[in-house]
Amino acid sequence: MPAVPSLIERYAAHLPVTDRTPRLTLGEGATPLVRARALERETGIPEVWLKVEGQNPTGSFKDRGMVVAVAKALEAGARMVLCASTGNTAASAAAYAARAGLGCAVVLPAGQVAAGKLAQAIAHGARVVAVRGPFDAALAVVRSLAEQGEATLVNSVNPDRLEGQKTAAYEVCEVLGDAPDALFIPVGNAGNITAYWKGFVEATALGLARRRPKMYGYQAEGAAPIVRGSPVAEPETVATAIRVGNPASWKGAVAARDESGGAIDAVSDGEILDAYGFVARCEGVFCEPASAAAIAGLRRRARDGGLRDLRRVVCVLTGNGMKDPERARSLAGAIAEVEATPDAVRRALRS
Ligand code: F0G
Repeated sequence: MPAVPSLIERYAAHLPVTDRTPRLTLGEGATPLVRARALERETGIPEVWLKVEGQNPTGSFKDRGMVVAVAKALEAGARMVLCASTGNTAASAAAYAARAGLGCAVVLPAGQVAAGKLAQAIAHGARVVAVRGPFDAALAVVRSLAEQGEATLVNSVNPDRLEGQKTAAYEVCEVLGDAPDALFIPVGNAGNITAYWKGFVEATALGLARRRPKMYGYQAEGAAPIVRGSPVAEPETVATAIRVGNPASWKGAVAARDESGGAIDAVSDGEILDAYGFVARCEGVFCEPASAAAIAGLRRRARDGGLRDLRRVVCVLTGNGMKDPERARSLAGAIAEVEATPDAVRRALRS
């Protein structure tokens, strides 16, 4: 038994689990909520917190929902799970399927998945197929295969996924003693913003929070269907995790926005990469580019004066920066290689 109870055990009363649901776990959830002083100085907001979801077992928030979805699949007697993914869902599905002794198949948009995520899916023994087209095409394929009974679909269209993901909102309320004034979160297939909103609504009903936060979701400019109001056929962004043109939980995201009095906006790739470098260098937290969309959104909204009344905000850093080593490497030029002497190294450090 792990020192901290598993996510399913901790939140069993609020999840669609029964006594028969296997207590599957890799130690997911209970991720750090870290104070972000540099962002507080820059934005003028008294309290900025980072929910560091990259600390989950496979390095992203997906593990919260995946543990529930795979446990329920196991309970139902499934042999195999299936998903489409920009990378993180695939890594998570592959790991939990391996843990549960289930087969796993993942369908990816060809050439658009960060190296670390692909490595994870392969290492955990998933069958990997790449399709020509964006994530949305891959999702359409797996939905059709799942309807034909090939395997249990574990994308966020599976309601068990969102149930597990909502636990992050509970945790935020538990640690802060209330919900924040606003939550900043990247939006791709829109499951996570939908799940957080459900979690905050439930948290107020349960007495874990007195208020509900305004929900601020961020898409990348080249992949911003909700902001534009219509699907994007060929989504494009450096933040490949949120390169989604027709989000499955579109309605959930719009409801979260409207019921909370928040907004869903787009940030440019330049703003995303700037925020990505900033949190790594100034806060010591290394997230992936998609996660940095939330930080980019916070910085932009603060600059525009749209956050004056807010005292406490939380940004969700959805995935670990080590997932995408190539993007990280592009932050610096060539690395000096010198003789192994103190003098040579000192000279190189000073140049
Ligand atoms: N951040 C990261 C790191 C992600 O991997 C994703 C989604 C999101 C944000 C957006 O979350 O889809 O719930 O709105 N990744 C999915 C995947 C699409 O296949 O791994 P969302």
